[in-house]
Amino acid sequence: MIDHRDDPARSTHAVRGLSIALALIVAGIGRLLHAASDPAASVFSHLGHVMADAIPALPLGLTAVLGGRWLSRRTGVSRPAAIAFVLAAGFVPAGAVHEALAGASVAVHGHGAAAHRWSLAHGVRDAVPAFFAAFAAATLASFGSAFAAAAGRLRVASARVPRARIALALAALAATLPGRMPVAAASALPFSNPLVIPQERTGDDIAIEMREAEVQILPGAPTKMWTYDGTFPGPTIRRPSGVTTRVTFTNSLPEEAGSMTVHHHGNHSASTEDGQPASHLIPVGGSRTYTYDFVENDAPERAAMQWYHDHRMDVTGRNVWNGLAGMVILDDEVDADLPLPEGAFDVPLMFVDRSFDANNQLSYRFNANGVRGTKMLVNGVVQPRFDVAGAKYRLRLLNASNISEFTFAFADGTEMLQIATEGGLLPAPVPRTRIKLAPAERAEVVVDFTGMNGRSLVLQNVEGSPLLRQVMRFDVGPNVPDASRVPEVLRPLEPAPEVSIENTRVWALTQSLAGDLVWTINGLEYDAERIDTAPLNPVLGSAERWIFVNTTPVNHVMHIHDVDWWLIRRTSPDPYPADALLAEQGLKESFLVRPNEVVEIVSRFTDHLGTYVFHCHVLEHEDRAMMAQFEVVLSRP
Ligand code: C2O
Ligand code: CU
Repeated sequence: MIDHRDDPARSTHAVRGLSIALALIVAGIGRLLHAASDPAASVFSHLGHVMADAIPALPLGLTAVLGGRWLSRRTGVSRPAAIAFVLAAGFVPAGAVHEALAGASVAVHGHGAAAHRWSLAHGVRDAVPAFFAAFAAATLASFGSAFAAAAGRLRVASARVPRARIALALAALAATLPGRMPVAAASALPFSNPLVIPQERTGDDIAIEMREAEVQILPGAPTKMWTYDGTFPGPTIRRPSGVTTRVTFTNSLPEEAGSMTVHHHGNHSASTEDGQPASHLIPVGGSRTYTYDFVENDAPERAAMQWYHDHRMDVTGRNVWNGLAGMVILDDEVDADLPLPEGAFDVPLMFVDRSFDANNQLSYRFNANGVRGTKMLVNGVVQPRFDVAGAKYRLRLLNASNISEFTFAFADGTEMLQIATEGGLLPAPVPRTRIKLAPAERAEVVVDFTGMNGRSLVLQNVEGSPLLRQVMRFDVGPNVPDASRVPEVLRPLEPAPEVSIENTRVWALTQSLAGDLVWTINGLEYDAERIDTAPLNPVLGSAERWIFVNTTPVNHVMHIHDVDWWLIRRTSPDPYPADALLAEQGLKESFLVRPNEVVEIVSRFTDHLGTYVFHCHVLEHEDRAMMAQFEVVLSRP
């Protein structure tokens, strides 16, 4: 070790070097913080973003100073002008460097409406605040080293803290924060657009065209989307259970979209009609008729809110993000005979998050960690308002987002009486004030607006990104006659079937840490040629117990096609709230499985033979490649 103490010049160099090193470390920590947090989550993540941007900006700043000095010596131009020139010239590569560093996470990068092509404008936009962030970090670092010097570790010629510089740096850093907030946030106030209820299709022969369409979502330019029949969400299919229904989907999407496959999520479909990811596809220019008999165990299938969406292997996340999702309401006599709110008082609501670029176009950049949006859409409308009468409403809630989980609560604590889950009516209503829905999960609730004339109730998403916090507003009008009510008993639930030990399967949710990030089940990526339950496949009519064990550090939502399941047990270091557990006592087919959690479910494989998939419903997890197959067989070998 060299002793600097007797050499003031070297000590000054040491301080500078230390400053730069510390600034880089701070910037590096900022980058980690940024990556670890929900990108749009908080001021801290915006700070993290600034610090992350400081990595390319710091060398840029140093280069500008050194290059500017050199240029000034060579040309005689004044030093500040030369430095400013080099700095400006550096913006262009800074944009590219930033793009490279941000990589695939750009789509969730909290830039709001920024189009992520590197450009002078982008370079300026990111490098300027980042430069000041680096400057602030370096100043703080030199503050630290001056402190160390004062403590006698280093003797520095001029150990005075440059106060003006600190003030300037902090002011610059503060000034960048508003610029970090998404640009688009200013473009539309929440609750300025009325809710739209997708048109219903009710016949037994339904035709739906998948096509590109311009959809008006934000003020200004329309958004080009891949749609079912030109709208987002697509039309709501509403059918009586037990009646055979044919839905013909035609693929008129652009060539680049490729083949499609439509999964009727939550339905008990035959294997060929299930929207298989890698077979029975609909090529561009082609069409396919799906036949649903809506029968389960020789009886009409249970009434439920279901949905349909694209399910193409590897690109489901992109396809759904671009708009390929719609809702389904299956009615039956049991449900219809209850005095629940109906007609205009029965409202399906699809919640998704999306982000848009500066031209109002959807931005989707695949990211195996899941793609999040910066705007909350309800039935395709950004943060709508909804005029309701003073009466009870049945609200059917579906989280159709790619990865975002939503926790719904009224801002004033108004109660939601949950009456159904994915598999239809609960045995009894469960009072809730907060309802968490992971992707693909549904909850049906009855909310009573009676006597609230003139009031406005804001439905919020109370966990996660503040950008997605304000969901929609209910503006209540005068009371109307309302004969509806929620009975104490809704639909008795058959007890869960007994399962023998040889019909128990354990599925570990795993990830591969070698190479690119891949999500796996029992260590395996999805392979359309492999049956993951073979050779001891589920036998038609038999019951099985499946146990999901999440060994990864992130949440997954396990969705099983074909049949609905009873939740037997959740074992977790972090127990579910009692009301949430109670609400899971209905039939379900999508289960949130949190890190270190074990979720045990049982079901009986009825009616259909053949192969089905099950997978994580975080769509980018599914696409990369957390999906597996089971085959229902007549007998085991
Ligand atoms: Cu909604 Cu297999 O998915
Ligand atoms: Cu997952």
